Amino acid sequence: MARSEQHLSLLIVLVLSMTAIAVQGSRCQLRTRPDSCLCSGTALTCSAWPVWKMVSENTTSLTVSGVTTLEDLSMAYQPSRALTKLTTLILTNDNISNIEEGWFSGTIFPALEEVILDQNKLTPNATQKMFAQVSEELRLLSLRAAFLNISSPVQNLKHVFSDVKGTKLEALRLDSNNIGLLPSFPKGSKFLALRNLTLHNSDLIGIQNGTFQKRIFPNLQNLDLSNNKLVNVDKLVIDNDFNSFASEQPSLSIRLGGNPFFCNCKLKAFQAWLNTTNLVADRDNVTCGDAVETSRRGQPVLGSQLPCRPGPDEVDVENELRPSYIILSVILALVGLLALIVLYLRRNDIKDYFVGVYTTTKEAFTSRHGYDDINRVRRDTPEMTPTEV
Ligand SMILES: *[C@@H]1O[C@H](CO)[C@@H](O)[C@H](O)[C@H]1NC(C)=O
Ligand SMILES: *[C@@H]1O[C@H](CO)[C@@H](O)[C@H](O)[C@H]1NC(C)=O
Ligand SMILES: *[C@@H]1O[C@H](CO)[C@@H](O)[C@H](O)[C@H]1NC(C)=O
Ligand SMILES: *[C@@H]1O[C@H](CO)[C@@H](O)[C@H](O)[C@H]1NC(C)=O
Ligand SMILES: *[C@@H]1O[C@H](CO)[C@@H](O)[C@H](O)[C@H]1NC(C)=O
Ligand SMILES: *[C@@H]1O[C@H](CO)[C@@H](O)[C@H](O)[C@H]1NC(C)=O
Ligand SMILES: *[C@@H]1O[C@H](CO)[C@@H](O)[C@H](O)[C@H]1NC(C)=O
Ligand SMILES: *[C@@H]1O[C@H](CO)[C@@H](O)[C@H](O)[C@H]1NC(C)=O
Repeated sequence: MARSEQHLSLLIVLVLSMTAIAVQGSRCQLRTRPDSCLCSGTALTCSAWPVWKMVSENTTSLTVSGVTTLEDLSMAYQPSRALTKLTTLILTNDNISNIEEGWFSGTIFPALEEVILDQNKLTPNATQKMFAQVSEELRLLSLRAAFLNISSPVQNLKHVFSDVKGTKLEALRLDSNNIGLLPSFPKGSKFLALRNLTLHNSDLIGIQNGTFQKRIFPNLQNLDLSNNKLVNVDKLVIDNDFNSFASEQPSLSIRLGGNPFFCNCKLKAFQAWLNTTNLVADRDNVTCGDAVETSRRGQPVLGSQLPCRPGPDEVDVENELRPSYIILSVILALVGLLALIVLYLRRNDIKDYFVGVYTTTKEAFTSRHGYDDINRVRRDTPEMTPTEV
């Protein structure tokens, strides 16, 4: 009895002290804070762009969200001094369209581990290194729905990550962007620490050979390519990219569900690979999106018949041209028929015409003038054997 009471009081003390810690955690521990920011512990959450001199150097987390007035993160808006304790920077839903090179520089944010830029309107160009000189401590980069209508992603995403690859980056989130085609990473790129790469719902229409290789992502564990617009995966990509991670106990798990795979015979290599590989985590969700018969839409690619019919993006030139040949032949046949009908209807006129021609010719020959002409031609061309007229 006494023992259980003792336990109970111990529990109460524990609960009380934990509550005290929690309360203390939410109390502001920063000596200064901008007016527009709420402070909790060492974290600031701001409803307007902060006045940097009011942001304490002890701040560990800074959130500026829903502030749509600052479209250009230029150097003018960079903190005036280093925030050496800041590990988390959340700039979501801010209409940011441009980030000046060096804005995230490690000299200003030397401890930065997490950068969340979800729901912005970034429009990088072909030369821009958005994360130039970012801290080596970077572990998470989230760019969900962060880009606005990238006009040429293969060009314009080429340099975005060039300073990110040397960091401790573990997770790169590129979901819900209108990417289309991802550029392949330059030779020698290595994302040594990257474990998660997510491109869920990013309008990917194809995968280029050499984009996802083990030599670039030696520690990749999750590759999410689900809910895109992939209609096929090229044999080269299977062999050179996906299979570079293959082994008896692969560490990589690829998600490919929710893509509109076009189930014709060109998908056979992919289907055979899907049947044998243990790299694809959601293979039951890998389905035909645009099967030959509508009834087969949504059926798993595994076990599907793959008849040879042209796919949506592949134009069968022979079949494309055939209808125009047919139309041309029909037109020619009609013209011929019409000509015959006209000739038949006007057969009497034609007969009269030829009779007329015959008579005039005969007259010309029989007239003296015509005869002389013919004789002169004969004289001028002596090698011609004379024939009786
Ligand atoms: C930052 O925190 C340290 C203790 O952790 C304290 O000594 C220092 O005064 C704080 N600086 C500011 C500007 O709040
Ligand atoms: C931010 O984006 C929203 C939605 O597109 C738009 O309505 C708003 O005008 C933008 N704000 C600025 C300051 O551009
Ligand atoms: C890319 O953008 C940066 C910064 O906005 C600009 O300085 C540079 O001239 C642009 N480059 C091209 C090729 O448009
Ligand atoms: C995307 O960009 C293209 C050309 O750059 C333009 O025609 C199209 O309207 C844009 N779409 C949106 C949703 O902004
Ligand atoms: C990586 O992906 C796994 C599986 O989807 C998830 O559980 C984990 O939280 C992710 N890690 C990061 C850092 O995003
Ligand atoms: C595909 O990638 C492999 C390995 O990187 C390379 O040897 C091959 O030339 C590439 N093929 C094409 C068509 O790009
Ligand atoms: C899948 O593999 C099994 C044997 O492992 C084989 O019997 C079957 O025909 C294969 N299916 C396809 C679609 O390749
Ligand atoms: C398959 O897709 C459904 C619906 O999108 C989802 O709920 C489920 O988790 C997926 N299964 C796997 C194994 O990913």
